[in-house]
Amino acid sequence: MSAARAGTHAVVAGLGSYLPPRIVTNDDLAAHLDTSDEWIRSRTGIATRRWVERGVSTSDLAVEAGMLAMKAADDDMVDAVVLATTTPDRLCPATAPEVAARLGLTGRAAFDVSAVCAGFLYGVAVSAGLVASGAATRVLLIGAETYSTILDPADRTTRAIFGDGAAALVLRAGRADEPGAIGRCVLGSDGEHSELINIPAGGSRQRSSGVPAAPAEHYFQMRGGDVYRHAVERMTAAALESLELAGWEPGDVDRFVPHQANARIAAAVAERLGIEPARVLGNIAEVGNTAAASVPLLLTESAADGRLEPGHRVLVAAFGGGLAWGATTLVWPHVTALPSR
Ligand code: UT7
Repeated sequence: MSAARAGTHAVVAGLGSYLPPRIVTNDDLAAHLDTSDEWIRSRTGIATRRWVERGVSTSDLAVEAGMLAMKAADDDMVDAVVLATTTPDRLCPATAPEVAARLGLTGRAAFDVSAVCAGFLYGVAVSAGLVASGAATRVLLIGAETYSTILDPADRTTRAIFGDGAAALVLRAGRADEPGAIGRCVLGSDGEHSELINIPAGGSRQRSSGVPAAPAEHYFQMRGGDVYRHAVERMTAAALESLELAGWEPGDVDRFVPHQANARIAAAVAERLGIEPARVLGNIAEVGNTAAASVPLLLTESAADGRLEPGHRVLVAAFGGGLAWGATTLVWPHVTALPSR
């Protein structure tokens, strides 16, 4: 089918997700760090997270999720692979071409999107743009992370929060008025605060300094309290803008899908928006914060277990390092979702 006949709007056609099997409990962390199950649960809402075994990298998770999404969409002919990740296999080249090759998609467009926890929403906007421009009629958009590989073994805070996982969507060319059509995307950034979440070493800034990096500088660092305040403000504002673009009131939202940064952040944003808790989806208790994989993982699991139903008006919002944030809306379609767990 040609792009013109199919339409030029990105529409959700199938979802899949993959979690590495190893479950890490709060007590597992407390065995090595000065923390407790009580602190982690009450401050973050997290009870367990998945971490990869040694030797498993982001591409491995991305391939599994991508395969399931294509199976769900009954479509192995995607013509672009977009991978949102903070934890690429290597600094260079991008991880997406290797993922595409392992999915049998050699020759197709493939690139990474780097926007930390907002990466999936940036990926949605970029994928919709590929479809609108005619560069692609079917895009495989994957969010995949192995945060366990970048966490400082001595940092009790980040180790408590972040988990590994991957999830993917097939977006096909369709019409703006059909269920599953991605609404207008709201995106924003504030690089004035780039230091709030960062890995100091490994990039050109540290390398060109001529000063060897200290071991801890190779790990992910986060100023949690400051990030928390920005997250609530920015996600709320982006969500409100997205609702306005869709012509929806907060009361019209059947399901709010916030990035799973911290259960308290999601609850605070929902409260500010005026969305009742029963309409707010979450899975942070089981998987922690999986950054770019967080939103598609929650969408996949919720579509599979019935928390998301066809016809639901869905609001999605995310926020993360950069700082970067985004939001969008869609009406949930009749679609297959295949979570691995
Ligand atoms: O994904 C997008 C980007 N990330 C986020 O959006 C995360 C945003 N931030 C947060 O979720 C929260 O700020 C945290 C969960 C990181 C921290 O929670 P908090 O309620 O803001 O705690 P805090 O940083 O204000 O720290 C309170 C206390 C401190 O001790 P003192 O200074 O009061 O004695 C911390 O040292 O809690 C201590 N603490 C811990 N204690 C036990 C920090 N981490 C831990 C821990 N176990 N794991």
